[in-house]
Amino acid sequence: MYDFRGSDSASRVAWSIPLGRRQSARSEQPFGDAEFFSRQELRRSQGRIMYLGVKIRPPHPEPELPEPPVQDALGRALRDLRISVTDRCNFRCPYCMPAEVYGEGYRFLAKPELLTFEEIERLARLFLELGAEKIRITGGEPLLRKELPDLVARLAALPGLRDLTLTTNGYLLARQARALAEAGLQRVTVSLDSHDEATFQRMSGRQFSPARVLAGIAAAHDAGLRPIKINCVVQRGVNDEQVVDLARHFQGSGHILRFIEFMDVGTLNAWDLSQVVSAREIVDRIDAELPLEAAEPNYPGEVARRWRYRDGSGEIGVIASVSQPFCADCSRARLTIEGQLVTCLFAEGGVDLRTPLREGADDAALCERIRAVWVQRSDRYSEKRAETARAGGETARAAPQRIEMYQVGG
Ligand SMILES: C[S@@+](CC[C@H](N)C(=O)[O-])C[C@H]1O[C@@H](n2cnc3c(N)ncnc32)[C@H](O)[C@@H]1O
Ligand code: SF4
Repeated sequence: MYDFRGSDSASRVAWSIPLGRRQSARSEQPFGDAEFFSRQELRRSQGRIMYLGVKIRPPHPEPELPEPPVQDALGRALRDLRISVTDRCNFRCPYCMPAEVYGEGYRFLAKPELLTFEEIERLARLFLELGAEKIRITGGEPLLRKELPDLVARLAALPGLRDLTLTTNGYLLARQARALAEAGLQRVTVSLDSHDEATFQRMSGRQFSPARVLAGIAAAHDAGLRPIKINCVVQRGVNDEQVVDLARHFQGSGHILRFIEFMDVGTLNAWDLSQVVSAREIVDRIDAELPLEAAEPNYPGEVARRWRYRDGSGEIGVIASVSQPFCADCSRARLTIEGQLVTCLFAEGGVDLRTPLREGADDAALCERIRAVWVQRSDRYSEKRAETARAGGETARAAPQRIEMYQVGG
C-alpha cells in the first residue's frame, strides 16, 4: 500500500514512501517534482505514472490505491475518533453526571455490555482505514478502566495513527501517567474547572482537593505527555470570576489552558444561554490583566482558537462551541462504550456496531457500515442553535432523548 494524504481537496493526493498508509506521514520522502497526482491520474496510470510528461516507475508494480478519506454529506472528512472506554466516573460534575441522578442506586453498564479491548482495537483500525488519523480516549473517566495501558499499546501500534491522546479529570493521573506514556500515549488533556478548592468541589460534585489533579498534571509532564492541555468549562455565576486567576496560575508553565463555553450537551444540566460566558468575554477578561494577541491555528479546523500572551509566557485557547460553532469543520466520529457510532455530541442516538461485530461481520462489512453512516451525516447542531439564537428563537434544550456527554466523551 502507498501513502496518500488529502491535500487541497479530496481529488488531490500526495504520494509518499511505500511504508503503509499514512504511517509514512511521519517520514515523508515525496518523489521530487512529481509529488502531487490527482486520483484520476493515478487510477489511469495503473502502475506507471505519467505526470507532466515525466514517467516514473513506482517502487511496486501495481500500486493498490486506497480510497480517499470518506466524506460526509457536507464534505467533512472523517479524521478523528473519540472512544469512550467507560460510562463510570469518580466525579459527579453537575453539568455532566449530576449526583442526584448518578447516585448509589444508578445501574452502570455490566462488563459484557462494554466493548472489549480487542473489539475497540479492531473498530479503531477500521476507522483509521477510512481516514481517521487521531484517536482520543475518553469517557466517563477513562482512568477507571482497568488495564488501560494495554488498550493504549494496542491503539498506538495501529498503522496510520498520528496522534493518540486521552482526556481525564486527572484524579488518578499521578499514578498512571508513566505507564500510559510507556504504552504509547502521546499527550493528555486534563479537565480542571478551578484551582480554588470550594469551586473545584462544587464543579466536580466531590469533596476532593484540586491539589491531586495538579499533581496528576505534574506527573504527566514528567512522563513526557506534553504539551498538556487543561480544559476548563466556564459557567456564569459558578467559576467565571476565576478565569483570570486560573490563567495566571498556568501562565509560563508550558501547559495550554483552554476555556470551554458551557454547552447544552445531554439532558441533565438545566442549561440555558444565560449561563454561557462567551469566548469573547473570557478573552477580554484575561486580556485586561494579562495582555493577549491572537495566534494562528496550528492546523485548519482546530477546535480551540489560540491566544498567546504578549510577553511570550505561553498561550491559552477558547472553545466557542456555543457563540462561534465549528460544525463546518467537524471531523469527529465517536464510539460509545457499547459500540454505538455517534456523529455529533448532540445526537439523540447512534448506530450499533457491536451487534454485527459480535455476530461475526467481517472487516469489509463493518467498514461499509461505518462508511454508510458517515456519508449520510449532515448534523450541524451547534450552528443551527446559533442560527435560532440570532433569530431570537428558543435555545433551551428540546430533545429529551439526547445522549449524555459521559457516554460519547468530550
Ligand atoms: C465528558 S468528559 C470525559 C473525560 C473526563 N472524565 C474529563 O472530565 O476530562 C470530557 C470533557 O467534557 C467536558 N464537558 C462535560 N460536560 C460539558 C458541558 N456541558 N459543556 C462543556 N464541556 C463539558 C468536561 O469538562 C471534560 O473536559
Ligand atoms: S466531565 Fe468528566 S469528570 Fe466530570 S462527571 Fe463528566 S465524565 Fe466525570
